[in-house]
Amino acid sequence: MASTASSLQTIAGITELRATLSAARAAGRRIAFVPTMGALHEGHLTLIDTARAAGDLVVMSIFVNPLQFAPGEDYQRYPRVLAEDTLLAEQRGVDVLFTPSREEIYGQTPVVTVHPGNIGKEWEGTARPQHFEGVLTVVAKLFNIVEPAVAVFGQKDLQQVAVVKAMVRDLDFPLEVLVVPIVREADGLAMSSRNRFLAGKERELATMLSKALFKLRGTFAGGERRASALEAVGWRMLERLPGLTPRYLAAVSPATFQRVNIVQPGDAAIGAIRVGDTRLIDNIIF
Ligand code: PAF
Repeated sequence: MASTASSLQTIAGITELRATLSAARAAGRRIAFVPTMGALHEGHLTLIDTARAAGDLVVMSIFVNPLQFAPGEDYQRYPRVLAEDTLLAEQRGVDVLFTPSREEIYGQTPVVTVHPGNIGKEWEGTARPQHFEGVLTVVAKLFNIVEPAVAVFGQKDLQQVAVVKAMVRDLDFPLEVLVVPIVREADGLAMSSRNRFLAGKERELATMLSKALFKLRGTFAGGERRASALEAVGWRMLERLPGLTPRYLAAVSPATFQRVNIVQPGDAAIGAIRVGDTRLIDNIIF
């Protein structure tokens, strides 16, 4: 069933979405797609801005994808605030909001999935085995359902960007991937749906990750090029902080996600920490 709230059309069914979008394509409209799991914040809203500039029909999906959460991760408590999200999406200019149920996307558990290969092996891939396989499988399904000309992702999930770009290239999806810079809170914290879990001391501690990454970038700007020396600078800021567990901090190539020894402009510093029960990731480009 579709419902129309002023200019935004909300569609939950694949068949209906396909019919709406093929009519739009037949009318010559270029579809720009923003896949999300909802709990929208300014970071997501800037993806919409980019999609609006790149296409003339903006489709956003909101689907908390069970396949990318391991048992024991935060699938159950992941924030679900559809009414709030719908309002934000509409105000920012989304034309079609796709809100499928779990059954609509996974009528049956998929037998065939998309494997990320080596790019998805380390870092988030080590900490969250199957995460990128879950991400790529749902993104491939969404690409096949929406058939966009352009898909927009946030730099905040930089390893996700790398595996999605590799999938698009290797499996010949006929679309362009655009990447939008991270949006930060005034104190530097990268915007994330999971920031909703943070309060008080945890919220304060969470800013340490961006501070460490900024320090690393400053040290690079000062002339240091050895990855190990740069990583040590950031690591010193994250260790021995009660309530914060550093997971990784590394200089990598943003295309392969292999660690580099000597950092070049365009490489990335990536980091992950745990604050209380919340895992946070962030990155900067040198
Ligand atoms: O980045 C996200 O919100 C998700 O990983 C995505 C791309 C929507 C796939 O579920």
